[in-house]
Amino acid sequence: MSYVFPVTKTTNPKAKPDPDTLRFGTEFTDHMFIMDYTEGKGWHDGRIVPYGPLTLDPAAVVFHYAQEMFEGLKAYKTADGRVLLFRPDMNAKRTNRTNNRLCIPQVDEEMYVEAVKALVKVDADWIPQKEGTSLYIRPFIIADEPFLGVRRSNTYKFIIILSPVGPYYEGGLTPTKIYVEDKYVRATPGGTGEAKCGGNYAASLKAQEEAHEQGYEQILWLDGVERKYVEEIGTSNAFFKINGEVITAPLNGTILPGITRDSVIQILKKKGMKITERRISIDEIVEAYKKGQFEEMFASGTAAVISPVGELRYKGDNMVINGGGIGPVAQELYDTIYGIQTGKVADEMGWTVEVK
Ligand code: COI
Repeated sequence: MSYVFPVTKTTNPKAKPDPDTLRFGTEFTDHMFIMDYTEGKGWHDGRIVPYGPLTLDPAAVVFHYAQEMFEGLKAYKTADGRVLLFRPDMNAKRTNRTNNRLCIPQVDEEMYVEAVKALVKVDADWIPQKEGTSLYIRPFIIADEPFLGVRRSNTYKFIIILSPVGPYYEGGLTPTKIYVEDKYVRATPGGTGEAKCGGNYAASLKAQEEAHEQGYEQILWLDGVERKYVEEIGTSNAFFKINGEVITAPLNGTILPGITRDSVIQILKKKGMKITERRISIDEIVEAYKKGQFEEMFASGTAAVISPVGELRYKGDNMVINGGGIGPVAQELYDTIYGIQTGKVADEMGWTVEVK
């Protein structure tokens, strides 16, 4: 099916940011996509309009009960000028899984990808090409019915905005310092841990700020029941290489099913490495460290791609991993994934989708 979204071009285009000083999430392009949902009518009136503020009723459900979700993916421009998306169908699928958990209506997944493509095409000039930069795509859905009772909204807006970005961490691929959080929890079984909804992130801010105050970039969450098993890092999934085996927490309902996480697992399997999805306790990691078997740690995420971890702090003890430098597995994964995304490495998995 082909989708046509009317485009209203801005009459006031903005200056493009300097790619050398690009940070994450501070600049926005000239246009955005908006589509409405009305109970009884479904999703309708998808359109591309000039980027700008929204007018919402102060009683809109999203402001009071956080009925909303968001996604993240990136567009890259290849050396020969093609525009590539990375596995956008996975974002569409995950959107519907989140929507189901948050009682937000399902979205047609093909339409979703076409909307992303249509908007990226309009603002393709905004895709930065400097190494480590990209155009971050943020689709999100908000419940906008003015109503103060607690129930699902009868109206929604599906919006996509675009942001030319530099690396998520200002140090780029410089290994980060991570604090193992043993006071606050992120998710418990039956909660919203596997959904990509803003509430999960609002609830994480306190822990993140306290870790920052102590000089740590991010936190590593432990499970919310026993505070024993490692789950994920603030904005990404976590991988540990111990004695030759790469381990990541299983998708058991409290972990975000990361698209980069899935890509890492598939790439490592293809390379013949031992990669296991299993629960791993922080005590097992500390033990491995003491025995000199904790070889590498890295985070994976759309925003961060692959981000090596150089130091992990747990209950007052610091573990310096791989001498604080980037490990070979993290480096190879970064080169492979970023290479596929930017068209420099052959896409044997068929993950990239060209925007034409
Ligand atoms: C992403 O990696 O795309 C995310 O959504 C993480 C984040 C910036 C909240």
